[in-house]
Amino acid sequence: MSSSAYNLCCLSFSPILSLPLSPLLLFLPLSFPLSGGRGLKCVSPCSTILTITLPTPCSSSMVLTFSLSLCSSIMVRTVAVIGAGPSGLTSIKSCLDEGLEPTCFESSDDIGGLWKFKEVSEPNRASIYRSLTINISKEMMCFSDFPIPADYPNYMHHSRILQYFRLYAEHFKLLQHIHFQTSVRSVRQRPDFSHSGQWEVVTENREGQEERHMFDSVIVCSGHYSYPHLPLKDFSGIESFEGKYFHSWDYKGPEDLRGKRVVVIGIGNSGGDIAVESSRVAEQVYLSTRRGAWVIRVMSDNGLPVDMKYNTRFVHILFQLLPVNWLSWFGEKKLNAMYDHTMYALKPKHRLFSTIPVINDELPNKILTGGVMVKPNVQQIRGSSVVFEDGSVVDKVDVVVFATGYNYDFPFLPSGLLANSSHRLSLYRNVFPPGLARPSLAVVGFVCNLGAINPLAEMQARWATRVFKGLLTLPSEEAMLQDIKRDTSTLQNRFACLERHPLQVDHIPYLDSMAEELGVRPNLLGLLLREPGVGLRVLLGPCTPYQYRLRGPGQWDGARQAILTQWERVAQPFRTRMAAQPESRTRASCSLRLTLTLSGAVLLLTLYTRHSLSSLLSHPTGLLYKLYSPSETMWGWK
Ligand SMILES: Cc1cc2nc3c(=O)[nH]c(=O)nc-3n(C[C@H](O)[C@H](O)[C@H](O)COP(=O)(O)OP(=O)(O)OC[C@H]3O[C@@H](n4cnc5c(N)ncnc54)[C@H](O)[C@@H]3O)c2cc1C
Ligand SMILES: NC(=O)c1ccc[n+]([C@@H]2O[C@H](COP(=O)([O-])OP(=O)(O)OC[C@H]3O[C@@H](n4cnc5c(N)ncnc54)[C@H](OP(=O)(O)O)[C@@H]3O)[C@@H](O)[C@H]2O)c1
Repeated sequence: MSSSAYNLCCLSFSPILSLPLSPLLLFLPLSFPLSGGRGLKCVSPCSTILTITLPTPCSSSMVLTFSLSLCSSIMVRTVAVIGAGPSGLTSIKSCLDEGLEPTCFESSDDIGGLWKFKEVSEPNRASIYRSLTINISKEMMCFSDFPIPADYPNYMHHSRILQYFRLYAEHFKLLQHIHFQTSVRSVRQRPDFSHSGQWEVVTENREGQEERHMFDSVIVCSGHYSYPHLPLKDFSGIESFEGKYFHSWDYKGPEDLRGKRVVVIGIGNSGGDIAVESSRVAEQVYLSTRRGAWVIRVMSDNGLPVDMKYNTRFVHILFQLLPVNWLSWFGEKKLNAMYDHTMYALKPKHRLFSTIPVINDELPNKILTGGVMVKPNVQQIRGSSVVFEDGSVVDKVDVVVFATGYNYDFPFLPSGLLANSSHRLSLYRNVFPPGLARPSLAVVGFVCNLGAINPLAEMQARWATRVFKGLLTLPSEEAMLQDIKRDTSTLQNRFACLERHPLQVDHIPYLDSMAEELGVRPNLLGLLLREPGVGLRVLLGPCTPYQYRLRGPGQWDGARQAILTQWERVAQPFRTRMAAQPESRTRASCSLRLTLTLSGAVLLLTLYTRHSLSSLLSHPTGLLYKLYSPSETMWGWK
């Protein structure tokens, strides 16, 4: 059924929206699709009476059932969206796409969340530094139906990505749904929640006045980098420190570090960036790490964005087929060929693919040129001296920067709603709390991965809004809890130190699993057969978000073209000077064809070692399905 048909229903049935209806009826619109909403007619705009003229003869009881099922599937209409960062913006859009009525509350005075730079960090809100550039390339970080402008750099300054979010908000007319300078203070279930699924949301506006609102659903998009993790108790003697210390959340730029001796603690992406930047003005920078890190570059061969080269379905398939340790060994070998992690004192205890690496092109350079010295974990701080676990001491330290990451919190939610399951939050697929009588609250953007958060948040929002509408149903509470448990143990095997990084997910499997339910996962075999140009790009090329707009609900007509032109948009910002053409284009396209053919051959060969050729030939579809299923089996979602 088209979304316009649902819009019609939404407008027409406002007075009956809290009527409890049998959940069984929710299945019916799916079982009896009414193509394009044909034959649907609302007789009375404010009553429960709905006449449906079916194209084929049917019994009157069937007509009645349809009326009820339609009513139940449109029960949820008003949605409170908390936060207007990227996750909030895409959630508002998903609500609009599904014919729901979003109202977004944003505590600050602007959209963009973390990407709205402030000269002074504001409490309970994410904060970035002046020089921050994205570390995921633009084609991988955009929303699936709105490519980032072709002339924007591939790795852009934070101000540019904020500009992109403005374009997105304007294009999809999202701003009119946002109440700025309005903080959500509490979200509570209404007394009749078990059948209405409704929430009471208390907000506070800029004048400090409280307001109560009622919503059918809530999407929480408040971000998870707002509360600095400052583990002072782990740093014995910190109270005796004679210099200045602060968290990376407070770091805006290196100006105050000029001529200083600086110790940066923690080698995440913040620690790496701050160490590099401050080393340009500081007397000396020491970067302390308790575990070490694999450091990768954003720039791959030929200067192409690394994620465009490696975040592909083909690589994902290799991950299903080959031992991860072998792939890690291969990747580590490639990285060490650029800079030996042992010699550079970076080598971590974990393998390359068992946690998110540090993405920093300049750090190895700074180590090479002595501006940054890598040190082990801090053992003790004495006055102005810092003692490291290997016994070495750095004296006359002026500044310690704790780049020690973030904690998360949802102060406005009922305590216990998102109860922990071991060290992870108890959220079904990182989105739905399993214990609710009605699935009318979702958390969006609460994940991290080696890839962009935006496409994940967008997929979560698309999924959540379909669940709110009753078009998709969640399993029982028990099944969801089992799933969270299975998922946690799978991730524990997959990632090192999940306890400290509990929000990790695997990019493509996570997207695919939700896309499968939504019916928007790309049909690879169909594409390869019908449109080999698009199919090969989906299989072998970067897993750009447009792939999830090729079909199904929310299909976007521009998706094919966006996939076909993705490398064009990568190339566009480089076209700043006409340089002499290198070799003939023919040779370049021949080598591309050769690469594609060889990749296909390698894939087939790998398959052949695992499956008999006869089964491959007799059941190509089944085999391809199997190829993609391991991710689901791995996640235990099927
Ligand atoms: C330093 C840094 C660099 C990063 N770089 C990248 C990158 O290059 N690529 C990438 O993909 N990701 C990056 N990330 C991850 C980043 O968090 C996401 O890209 C993205 O900002 C997440 O969006 P969000 O909307 O979920 O959260 P946020 O951007 O944090 O937005 C949350 C919004 O909710 C509002 N809010 C919170 N509580 C309330 C309340 N009670 N009432 C009303 N409003 C509220 C806040 O004011 C804020 O506007 C980076 C993170 C950090 C910390
Ligand atoms: N350019 C960019 O796009 C950019 C820049 C900055 C940040 N980011 C993103 O922002 C998010 C947060 O990054 P982050 O670097 O701030 O945090 P992070 O990734 O959580 O890293 C925190 C670091 O601090 C260490 N640490 C934590 N507690 C410690 C303790 N008690 N003692 C010693 N070391 C301790 C951690 O070590 P362990 O690993 O051993 O726990 C880790 O090295 C990430 O998603 C990151 O990718 C992106």
